[in-house]
Amino acid sequence: MQWTRKHLLGLEELSAAEIQHVFETADRFKEVSTRSIKKVPALQGRTVVNMFYESSTRTNLSFQLAARRLSADTLAFSKQGTSVSKGETLVDTARNIEAMGVDIMVLRHQASGAPWLLAANVKCSVVNAGDGQHEHPTQGLLDLYTIREVKGRIEGLKVAIVGDIAHSRVARSNIWGLTKLGAKVMVVGPSTLIPTGIERMGVEVCTDMDRAIRECDVLNMLRIQFERQSGEHPFPSIREYIHLFGLTAARLRQGRPDLMVMHPGPVNRGIEISPDVADGPQSVILRQVANGLSVRMAVLYLVAGVE
Ligand code: CP
Repeated sequence: MQWTRKHLLGLEELSAAEIQHVFETADRFKEVSTRSIKKVPALQGRTVVNMFYESSTRTNLSFQLAARRLSADTLAFSKQGTSVSKGETLVDTARNIEAMGVDIMVLRHQASGAPWLLAANVKCSVVNAGDGQHEHPTQGLLDLYTIREVKGRIEGLKVAIVGDIAHSRVARSNIWGLTKLGAKVMVVGPSTLIPTGIERMGVEVCTDMDRAIRECDVLNMLRIQFERQSGEHPFPSIREYIHLFGLTAARLRQGRPDLMVMHPGPVNRGIEISPDVADGPQSVILRQVANGLSVRMAVLYLVAGVE
């Protein structure tokens, strides 16, 4: 297929064919990371700037490394130590950076919708690296890519997304992508962490973690986002949350032996997932991180090809 999108803003707007095209492009780039010289000249002469207004380890480094493996020049911008602290707006900042001759802006921002605002106000490509509680499209893509790699397919699988659905942009991007590719999606957690009306996204709601474990092929465990919760926890205590929804080795044994355990990171060890499960044979957490590199190389390469 011909890729026509200058920006990657969300999985809501991507078709199943476009998602598959990202995967096929990532398949080709995956081999680059196995070479002794891990570099191809695909984006030589192009400049990618990471604009991170929120903290990040995986996404920030993965985009920087992806750009460098494609031979692009890279710039990194964060809120701290820049003129954002003097009150400069996102659009003013972006236009000033663009004036230096940047080709792709990778934006993480605390405000839902910020990448769309940026895309409407700059001429270069914009890639969403996570906007508020809305979408995290490259995390969704790398999660789906990892499922496809491990299970050999996505269509027909039953995938549980567990935990803090309400505050999770990862959940939303996963739901859009998984349902478009024909997976059955279950969102699992206390009702206070599941948005009302989420069934309209084509998912089943379940508050019984043990049933989800018995029925599903994949568990995607989400971080409890304490920093996004105002005031009291939306459950009586962390101890009760662990008791009802924490993924322990004993609980995991109720599922099929090939039940795949995912987590986007960062992990609250001992809360949503126990350390032995996070590091155990059914966990693909580090494989997700490794695949993130190929997927982000594919995304940068594809958007850079559209004027
Ligand atoms: N999964 C993820 O977005 O992690 P970071 O916040 O470290 O980028």
